[in-house]
Amino acid sequence: MPVQADVAPAVVIRDLSFSYPTAQGPLLAGLSFSLLPGFTGIVGANGAGKTTLLQLLAGQLTADAGFIDGACDAVYCEQRTDNAPATFHAFLQDWDSGAFELRGRLGIKPDFLARWHTLSHGERKRAQIAHALWQLPSLLVIDEPTNHIDSAARELLLQNLRRFQGIGVIVSHDRELLDALCYQCVWLDAADSQVYPGGFTQANEQWQSARHTAIAERDKLSQESKRLQRELVRRRTQAQSSHNSRSKKGLSRKDHDAKEKIDRARLTDSKAGSQLRQLGGRAAKVDADYQSMHVSKQYDTGIWLPGAQSHRNQLFSVAAGELPLGDDRVLTFPALAMAPNDRVAITGCNGAGKSMLVQHLLGAVNLSAERIINMPQELSVANASRVLEDVRGLAGDALGKVMNIISRLGSRPQQLLVSRQLSPGEIRKLLLAVGMLRTPHLIVLDEPTNHLDLPSIQALENALADCPCGMLLVSHDNRFLDRLGVTRWAVKIDGQGNSQMH
Ligand SMILES: Nc1ncnc2c1ncn2[C@@H]1O[C@H](COP(=O)(O)OP(=O)(O)OP(=O)(O)O)[C@@H](O)[C@H]1O
Ligand SMILES: [Mg+2]
Repeated sequence: MPVQADVAPAVVIRDLSFSYPTAQGPLLAGLSFSLLPGFTGIVGANGAGKTTLLQLLAGQLTADAGFIDGACDAVYCEQRTDNAPATFHAFLQDWDSGAFELRGRLGIKPDFLARWHTLSHGERKRAQIAHALWQLPSLLVIDEPTNHIDSAARELLLQNLRRFQGIGVIVSHDRELLDALCYQCVWLDAADSQVYPGGFTQANEQWQSARHTAIAERDKLSQESKRLQRELVRRRTQAQSSHNSRSKKGLSRKDHDAKEKIDRARLTDSKAGSQLRQLGGRAAKVDADYQSMHVSKQYDTGIWLPGAQSHRNQLFSVAAGELPLGDDRVLTFPALAMAPNDRVAITGCNGAGKSMLVQHLLGAVNLSAERIINMPQELSVANASRVLEDVRGLAGDALGKVMNIISRLGSRPQQLLVSRQLSPGEIRKLLLAVGMLRTPHLIVLDEPTNHLDLPSIQALENALADCPCGMLLVSHDNRFLDRLGVTRWAVKIDGQGNSQMH
């Protein structure tokens, strides 16, 4: 097992800027903050640049400007679960007591590498995190660790992360995790990123209150700027008309009195002129202050799902049966059927076979493909690119609708359209938006709240609550399921490791 490196006192990030070559503007601009031992949370909308920031910290990307000081020996635990970490075999073969204990604590089995592609995403996530902790880095950057994992694994993960002694950075939409772990949070926002002390709840309160103060200040500046502009116009008009009346044209050469009066008035005019210039300068300054004041925009959020109930008697009906789970285990299930307006959630711990069962049920669905929204648990990078290509090829009207939904889900549609690699949250939003173009009769969502930022989870929750069509869901997020009033189909693993649904 590697030896614990000296704990670095701090990592300093100064004026960091980064843009992707295809993007229209910088993703991160002038970002500065410091990291001390303990965990720092990174919070922001899907596509805000959280993963990008972690990759910069881990040295996988290079900044356009600014510097990161003290981030040597960083380990990055990635958001995607497609491949096993490069040195995973060394972790499995390390018989040092620390490695042994870590594998035991996080339930990592010797055959995990050989079975990687049949492991559930939750099992892969646990394996990635155990492997990252095994390396005892002085800087550990973790991207969305609680996606996919069940509540028991989540608790395990929390206990293990608490033992970590170094500097940790964690990207997560999991409020409870951030509250339990972080001493500060970075709010990532294109217009104005900020660092707040405390976990999510404390930082969120400060962010909200700073935002309200900034909005009030900006409104004040805007009113003052308008008032000064009006005053400027009034005084200029006044100056122009008095200038016209100061003309000596037409006066008799001998009318000395009148000429002297005009000269005196002109002197007053020149004073008024200098006051006018001062007023102009002040108006310009207030306007510049107003223009330079960035307040992060909050878009109208909330979507409406145009679902409808199918006229068929049943959406599907399957006979009782058994599904192989890939390692000599099986999932046994009874006869299952869904009525057009049923809301069903398949629940159970990681590796119970929930996603496989969903695939099996989807095969029996009695609807045309265009009446189904199917959001799988993860989409490969290639499939995500295909979805984006299809969207780019949509006719103007349909494209407009999709972009509007993306924006109402809190992400930036233009940035998404030119992206070379959509973030996982953006992919989900895009799948949902495309599905909404066709009125679905069945919505199938496998772990829908993974990867989504908090406002869009809320928006999705509200939209589903009002949607009349059938729903087949898989989720570990009980709050989400309770809100939707679903019927639960629970899959349980028995002592032999086989899964059963009764
Ligand atoms: N190689 C790339 N080229 C161009 N744009 C990219 C590339 N990789 C990512 N992007 C875009 O940069 C933005 C930031 O991506 P990033 O993955 O950092 O977001 P994120 O905040 O981690 O999002 P999520 O919450 O969904 O994980 C996104 O709009 C994404 O589409
Ligand atoms: Mg990300």
